Amino acid sequence: MSAKIVITGASGQVGRFLAGEAVRRGLDVSALTHAQWDITDAKAAERFVTESDLVVNCAAIANVDAAEADPDTAFAVNATGAENVALACARAGASLVHISTDYVFGGQQRRPYDVGDATEPVGEYGRSKLAGEVAVLAAMPGAHIVRTSWVYTGDDGNDFVAGLRRLAATDGTTDAVDDQVGSPTYVNDLADAVFEIGEGRIREPILHVANEGACTRFELAQAVFEELGADPRRIRPVSTAQAGRPAPRPAYSALSMATSVRAGLNPPRPWREALAEALAQPISDRQLPSTP
Ligand SMILES: NC(=O)c1ccc[n+]([C@@H]2O[C@H](COP(=O)([O-])OP(=O)(O)OC[C@H]3O[C@@H](n4cnc5c(N)ncnc54)[C@H](OP(=O)(O)O)[C@@H]3O)[C@@H](O)[C@H]2O)c1
Repeated sequence: MSAKIVITGASGQVGRFLAGEAVRRGLDVSALTHAQWDITDAKAAERFVTESDLVVNCAAIANVDAAEADPDTAFAVNATGAENVALACARAGASLVHISTDYVFGGQQRRPYDVGDATEPVGEYGRSKLAGEVAVLAAMPGAHIVRTSWVYTGDDGNDFVAGLRRLAATDGTTDAVDDQVGSPTYVNDLADAVFEIGEGRIREPILHVANEGACTRFELAQAVFEELGADPRRIRPVSTAQAGRPAPRPAYSALSMATSVRAGLNPPRPWREALAEALAQPISDRQLPSTP
């Protein structure tokens, strides 16, 4: 593992968890928020990246509807910003893991997407993230792209599972779409894979990291309630059209880790097993490690 892990977008869902995990594992970590390192600033990277660092780029416009409403900003961060990070890593001789998404796929397929399947994003978020992948590998062919999907902490944040966990403790009801299928991924399992990739033994440039199996958002919501002993009938199935979200989303974006496992990553555990573990954890108030 590199001497120091530098995490961008460190106040976000994935970045914050990775930073905490790095500290828990006794690693030297520099967790940089948007305010500390704006990745759209091409010059800023030089202040933060040095040789032998492992940079994990978690900075992104990851809100799908926000990206659709403002594609210029989405491309500035998700494509040009990612390229800035890669150029800085290449110049410094650092390693880079760049986090990407299942939304680079179009959703026509009905078996989990593997690395070699054609990308065909349906919205500005996926298009900007795909442009970021291309730009990162052009700037730094030795970088790793990690595509993940439907990431949750189930903890104190704003993710889908965390929100359902809060709702389960009330007598409220909610809607969940039953015509979008994906692979829910526990952030803990994503972190394990990112640290493994950071060890530098895996050569494959693009890797998928997701828990095994697929479900609809409705099935995921029901599973959360079942795990917590709440009545799953409080979740109402709705169609994507009924949900009326502004940005299009792929109807199917489950990820296969077959290529990743062949490349040396541990086989993923089933999504339901990971969910049960996540929901068995006490809710924490994860603080960012302080960065000088
Ligand atoms: N969550 C998921 O389900 C999921 C699924 C697939 C892939 N991913 C990928 O995982 C990565 C992390 O996503 P996330 O879920 O952690 O999203 P998030 O919670 O929205 O975090 C993204 C972070 O990036 C920061 N950021 C935005 N613009 C920036 C800029 N110009 N410079 C530096 N930082 C900036 C944000 O800071 P501010 O809020 O302060 O602007 C935020 O802290 C992204 O690449 C995303 O595409 C996530």
